[in-house]
Amino acid sequence: MEAINASIDFDQRLYAQDIQGSIAHSAMLAKQGIIAESDRDAIHQGLQRVLGEIESGGFTYSKALEDIHMNVESRLREIVGDPAARLHTARSRNDQVAVDIRLWMRDAHDRTDEQLTRLIKALLAKAEKNVATVMPGFTHLQSAQPVTFGHHLMAYVEMFGRDRSRIRDSRKRLNECPLGAGALAGTSFPIDRHMTAKALGFDGPTRNSLDSVSDRDSLLEFMSAASICAVHLSRLAEEIIIWMSAPFGFVKLPDRWTTGSSMMPQKRNPDAAELVRGKSGRIFGSLMAVLTMMKGLPLTYSKDMQEDKEQVFDAADSIEIVLAAMTGMIEDLEPVPERMAAVAGAGFSTATDLADWLVRDLGIPFRDAHHVTGRIVSEAEQRGCTLEELPLEIMQGVEPRIHKGIFDVLSVENSVRSRTSFGGTSPVRVAEQVAWWKTQA
Ligand code: ARG
Repeated sequence: MEAINASIDFDQRLYAQDIQGSIAHSAMLAKQGIIAESDRDAIHQGLQRVLGEIESGGFTYSKALEDIHMNVESRLREIVGDPAARLHTARSRNDQVAVDIRLWMRDAHDRTDEQLTRLIKALLAKAEKNVATVMPGFTHLQSAQPVTFGHHLMAYVEMFGRDRSRIRDSRKRLNECPLGAGALAGTSFPIDRHMTAKALGFDGPTRNSLDSVSDRDSLLEFMSAASICAVHLSRLAEEIIIWMSAPFGFVKLPDRWTTGSSMMPQKRNPDAAELVRGKSGRIFGSLMAVLTMMKGLPLTYSKDMQEDKEQVFDAADSIEIVLAAMTGMIEDLEPVPERMAAVAGAGFSTATDLADWLVRDLGIPFRDAHHVTGRIVSEAEQRGCTLEELPLEIMQGVEPRIHKGIFDVLSVENSVRSRTSFGGTSPVRVAEQVAWWKTQA
């Protein structure tokens, strides 16, 4: 029974929140005349001592005492005696654990928010330096149209900005205090839930006692937001891995983010990026575990819910380490512009520019221009040259009205510069995006 029932091995991470909750609860009990002020004072002094013991490593946790709540209370009783036994008046472990985990989740939200801001700032700094660094843009991982490295990084700023907004949104909803819901039905003691809510920094008390002890939405929302964020981090990690590979060679990452191979002396493996990609799996897994654990539970509390903690702690630890690693990698990432530009020009990536020119300058309908361009591309393909290198006469052989003005649109730089629509890849637009995001970071 002890082996399956005890949660102290993992829920000891809630010690500070548990003590904080008990201090607020006992202060309220005394204010309401439910316990004596002398009991409150003894409880507060005792809890401070327990806190000190835990933080100095001098506390011995007991499995027989099941969880953090009983471990703290039992030690408190050893220290202050009888007053400790009054602490749990008008409280159950059900509302106690609910408040502890919310306090912990609130900090986890705040940490993630700060880390996302740091990552966004790192991306902005790198993007700002690279608003005009031409790189190939892909669809289907096939060269599509040239874009800029800055624009590409700014795409991730959008994603991490949404992640941050999801975290902020979820934090607003979690900031209600379940303490005082009792086991499930409330209490007959004249408690003041508004007082404890305020003391613990909540916007107010939760409104329904049954929901208060059976709700774990704040964990689910956090892990959902963390999962979506992990998708973004994993995609960025994957791109860094591709960009770093020799056939691409778009970026360099200093050795501090890579490891060598024990056999192949030339290897520089992008382990940090691979682990960012890999850890997304455990974050999704934690979300799935808690969703599945919760879905069939009748109201209100069931012990199944004790299984929430290891999952959410692991998800929070994982998102924290991957955000930190990604921020460091972005700061240290060095683009190789020559290589990006060379590949950007390959694969007839300015074919769309050519077609658009036929529409704009010659008044050819787009569908027909698309067809003409296709024929010009195969001429270049046969000759093994780029569109820019293809002689004018050859193009005129396909469409006689083509003149030398066409060459203005065939370079990757001009292609990129011409994409001035809102949200487009033109350096002026990207610089605007960077400037706007700086006001948000
Ligand atoms: N360790 C328990 C948990 O994490 C605390 C709540 C226990 N409540 C109870 N009625 N047994 O869920």
